[in-house]
Amino acid sequence: MRTGLKIPRHAAIIMDGNGRWASARGLPRSAGHKAGIDALRSAVRAAADFGIEYLTIYSFSTENWKRPRAEVLFLLELLRRFIRQDVAELHASGVRIRVIGDRQGLEKSLVTMLEDAEALTRENTKLNLVVAFNYGSRQELTRATRVIAEKVAAGELDPAHITPELLDTYLDTAHMPAPDLLIRTGGEERISNFLLWQSAYAEFVFIPEFWPDFNAEIFARALQEYSSRERRFGGLKAQSA
Ligand code: FPP
Repeated sequence: MRTGLKIPRHAAIIMDGNGRWASARGLPRSAGHKAGIDALRSAVRAAADFGIEYLTIYSFSTENWKRPRAEVLFLLELLRRFIRQDVAELHASGVRIRVIGDRQGLEKSLVTMLEDAEALTRENTKLNLVVAFNYGSRQELTRATRVIAEKVAAGELDPAHITPELLDTYLDTAHMPAPDLLIRTGGEERISNFLLWQSAYAEFVFIPEFWPDFNAEIFARALQEYSSRERRFGGLKAQSA
């Protein structure tokens, strides 16, 4: 634990740059994703040490299906491997695993695996590791809108009662705080359909390093940057309010 740092309650990460990290070393893209798992392990440990309550990681987007079939299969297998190899240790260190994204597009056996990991770790309170898999914010909002529309059509919901707070409860992230900090590695500066609604007041920190190089030091630098920002949530500076 470091002093002088403001610790976000919820940090979200776009883990970008695996492919470029691998190409720079003359390796196949899959080697970059594999190295990305080690970086993820460091990030989880560091988040727990910093006292972050929620760490959300973008591990497969609804748009990632457009990649070559072999890469898609590799990423799906990597998730299975991560769950198989890491769940026991994550559970022992008090990590609660939650998964967001559309489960309908995933194989039944994978969904069962994810549900088992969620059930096993349900009571843990040290850190919530939120894995965004087959996740896309537009799709999440569309799914939520559909459910709300069905309720209205069935006469179970009055349109006048639709508020931002109500919509929140229909999202995959219901009952989680909004992200305070959103980190993207790999030098690109965009949000790529990740937590669009939830990041309305998040601070964005863009990091040049590729994801496989991410570690506790880089995480601490991002927290320093976050600590230097003044969050106003649409209001005025404290002294001029
Ligand atoms: C972006 O790098 C990364 C991904 C699309 C996948 C992220 C996956 C991991 C870090 C490992 C898997 C984690 C789990 C839990 C399964 P990129 O391939 O877009 O890199 P590039 O921009 O350099 O091409």
